Amino acid sequence: MEAFSSIVMKPHCLFFLLWLSHLFAHIYGEYHYHEFVVQESPVKRLCKAHNRIFVNGQFPGPTLEVTDGDTLEVKVTNKAIYNVTIHWHGVRQFRTAWADGPEFVTQCPIRPGESYTYRFTVLGQIGTLWWHAHSSWLRATVYGALIIHPKGDYPFKKPDREIPILLGEWWDRNPIDVVRNATRFGAAPDTSDAFTINGQPGDFYNCSSKDTTVFPVKSGETNLLRFINAALNTELFVAIAKHKMTVVGADASYDKPFETSVLMLGPGQTTDVLVTFDKNKGSYYLAAQAYSSAQGVPFDNTTTTAIIDYDTETTKRGKNSKLPAFPKLPAFNDTPTATKFAQSFRSLETVKLPEPVNENLFFTVGLGLFNCQPGQKCGGPNGTRFTASINNVSFVLPSNFSILQAHYHRVPGVFTTDFPAVPPVQFDYTAQNVSRSLWQPVPGTKIYKLKYGSVVQVVLQGTSIFAAESHPIHLHGNDFYILGQGFGNFNPQKDTKKFNLVDPPLRNTVTVPVNGWAVIRWVADNPGVWLMHCHLDAHITWGLAMVFSVEDGIGELETLEPPPNDLPLC
Ligand code: C2O
Repeated sequence: MEAFSSIVMKPHCLFFLLWLSHLFAHIYGEYHYHEFVVQESPVKRLCKAHNRIFVNGQFPGPTLEVTDGDTLEVKVTNKAIYNVTIHWHGVRQFRTAWADGPEFVTQCPIRPGESYTYRFTVLGQIGTLWWHAHSSWLRATVYGALIIHPKGDYPFKKPDREIPILLGEWWDRNPIDVVRNATRFGAAPDTSDAFTINGQPGDFYNCSSKDTTVFPVKSGETNLLRFINAALNTELFVAIAKHKMTVVGADASYDKPFETSVLMLGPGQTTDVLVTFDKNKGSYYLAAQAYSSAQGVPFDNTTTTAIIDYDTETTKRGKNSKLPAFPKLPAFNDTPTATKFAQSFRSLETVKLPEPVNENLFFTVGLGLFNCQPGQKCGGPNGTRFTASINNVSFVLPSNFSILQAHYHRVPGVFTTDFPAVPPVQFDYTAQNVSRSLWQPVPGTKIYKLKYGSVVQVVLQGTSIFAAESHPIHLHGNDFYILGQGFGNFNPQKDTKKFNLVDPPLRNTVTVPVNGWAVIRWVADNPGVWLMHCHLDAHITWGLAMVFSVEDGIGELETLEPPPNDLPLC
């Protein structure tokens, strides 16, 4: 009975409460509150002083870390002069489409001086995701990592450290002016002036080497590098001098480990790799440069670097000034290397693929040119204006309503539900000379309606209109399995047989190869409206996007939550 005296009882109680709260957190997840202030701040890059929009004055923005099952609440206050929204790239937003973020799709923008609180739970996704502005080209400087730890162990040996590595793209001019100027003239936007690693261009740019990002490592340790391609318009090859990488996951799903000396990430994609630092002490470059698949199209041909530094050798840099070793990077047009890398991904476990397919869709994705209309400025090739489309529809955002609000409140006139399941005209999509009559898509705000629970398969078919180019296609609110990727026109007889139906990787962004196709499949089990678009911002600006709407299912757990009270109004 003595054990129950008050003196002994107190610590017992405390332990019990601690244990209980632990158990609670384990079952329900923890709750994290953050405040993001979007604001202009001074910054110096490439020898020049600029003002740019950042979150909390940080570049890249704050890293958010959660555990699978946790809930995030992020209050975003807009103190900038532009409208802004924040998108939680890759987060499924189950029943919380209101927190997804693409402007005029799931919400009206947060106006200057206003704020909006994003509330959502991250569940069943483990690895690396990220957040970024989803309004004009603000994401050039408004982005950060979102790291999701597993509740238990990794399916690999616990790494000694975990390092987020955000690849970005930098313009010497205000990126908002770059896109506004391009849109005004219908021209291609200027290419960037630099790429960055964790905000810094690195040793191969003017006035930059003293701020080059350094990653200190200890000899012998194995670290988890979490790569995020946050660049606006450029797919990137990445390599580390003298070090092999073991890919263990991508887009917050685990994959069967495979070894590679080079990564290729399209904008939007993340890749988790293990690297063992067992080479001679010293410093090694981590470098990234463009994979530019389109022939004759200008691109930023510069190289960004960071330094991997064993046992802080770099603190001595300058004195003994031995240059770090430089990695072998593929040529900018090395499509075979990009393809080999993309095709190495397999889900860690055998997949129970959703079937049968209820919606068999075939979408062409590609560029186009509008003929000049009287009164327009036409700075595209031969006096045209650049455009892009899916199934010949060039997506137009509503300007004073969000599609989700219109969908939820059944407001007519904001969109139409006639997005085509197949292209209006069949043609030789990847031919050298596609007839000019097929170069002019139709602008529209069209969505494709899906019943709750339907199994959707989409063949994403690249076209060679104007220029064949690979497209990183991103779907909001869902992860999909990539069943196959190939070149030329998709051939159902031949290509379906080659699908990976055993262990296809689960992702949120797929690379549609240059002059090729990719096939994705998922279950529409998340009610709401979900944008699908090319994650090259130049292409989304031109209309390479569409929207799926998913009806509610049966009962509360299959129903979109009601809109939050502070949802911004247009
Ligand atoms: Cu990463 Cu629609 O975005």
